[in-house]
Amino acid sequence: MFSWCVGVLLCCGWCLRFMGNLLKVLACSDLEHGPIIFLDFEHAQPTEAETAVWNQVSAVLEEAHGILAELQSYNGAGQEIREAIQNPGDLQLQEKAWNAVCPLVAKLKRFYEFSLRLENALRSLLEALTSPPYAPMQHLEREQALAKQFAEILHFTLSFDELKMTNPAIQNDFSYYRRTISRNRLNNQQLEAENEVNNEMANRMSLFYAEATPMLKTLSNATTKFVSENKTLPIEDTTDCLSTMACVCRVMLETPEYRCRFTNTDTVLFCMRVMVGVIILYDHVHPVGAFAKTSKIDMKGCIKVLKEQPSNSVEGLLNALR
Ligand SMILES: *[C@@H]1O[C@H](CO)[C@@H](O)[C@H](O)[C@H]1NC(C)=O
Ligand SMILES: *[C@@H]1O[C@H](CO)[C@@H](O)[C@H](O)[C@H]1NC(C)=O
Repeated sequence: MFSWCVGVLLCCGWCLRFMGNLLKVLACSDLEHGPIIFLDFEHAQPTEAETAVWNQVSAVLEEAHGILAELQSYNGAGQEIREAIQNPGDLQLQEKAWNAVCPLVAKLKRFYEFSLRLENALRSLLEALTSPPYAPMQHLEREQALAKQFAEILHFTLSFDELKMTNPAIQNDFSYYRRTISRNRLNNQQLEAENEVNNEMANRMSLFYAEATPMLKTLSNATTKFVSENKTLPIEDTTDCLSTMACVCRVMLETPEYRCRFTNTDTVLFCMRVMVGVIILYDHVHPVGAFAKTSKIDMKGCIKVLKEQPSNSVEGLLNALR
């Protein structure tokens, strides 16, 4: 069973535009040779069996682009905060900083709430992609539209975390907000009137933004929870689904015939992100981790593929693996 690995070109959207009608499932080179199956992924439309889950996840993914755009254009209130701190007696400056920070915190709340919706979406996908009686590989084959959504979630997740990591204003704004709350002992009622981020929500958000990679951590936690809650489902069903995806991405990246079709650097980045995302999820969920000798993920191969890319595009990803 495990001697072969179906590689599915999970490059969605833009990636597929460059590959024409090409749809591929690749043989994973480190595994013994097995059947190579060709699948059409470009027009991957949900089958009837996939529709319910697909619609649910699709509704979440539709918002992902807007969330990323909002995060990308997030310019903190650093200036206002600095002035307020430097002039503690100037009430006008205090108010100015507060008024600048509040709408930003409302934004951060939207991001946080989106992470909860994404978590639910991931859970539905995991349920669908691991449900009996099919093996993980058969699922990827049969439910290509869902596998593609899974890849899109991971791609979003790593994009989000990269933006968050390179934007120190987020934590700066948020801690100013919390300090101001506690200094002024603003109660929930006052806070809710202002911007709906009460103390309890602020606590939860603070745990979220304290993570180096909050979105990925949310998904890791959700995957672990999914595996541990479901006693009837062997853990391998979930981890095999992840290792198969990692294998697919790696083969796509390291095989020149496939790589040369990627004229758009976004495509390559997409595959790298998805690969790194599933590796981290695997590492988090699997009892021995992705880096163990017995791991079903060829970590050496994956890291080699990453290191062959221009370093500015993979630095964040390599860091995420460490
Ligand atoms: C366990 O997973 C199976 C397959 O995804 C699902 O049908 C079942 O409802 C799950 N059970 C629990 C308790 O989550
Ligand atoms: C993930 O789970 C750990 C342990 O339960 C918890 O401390 C952490 O806050 C969680 N992180 C997120 C982002 O949910």
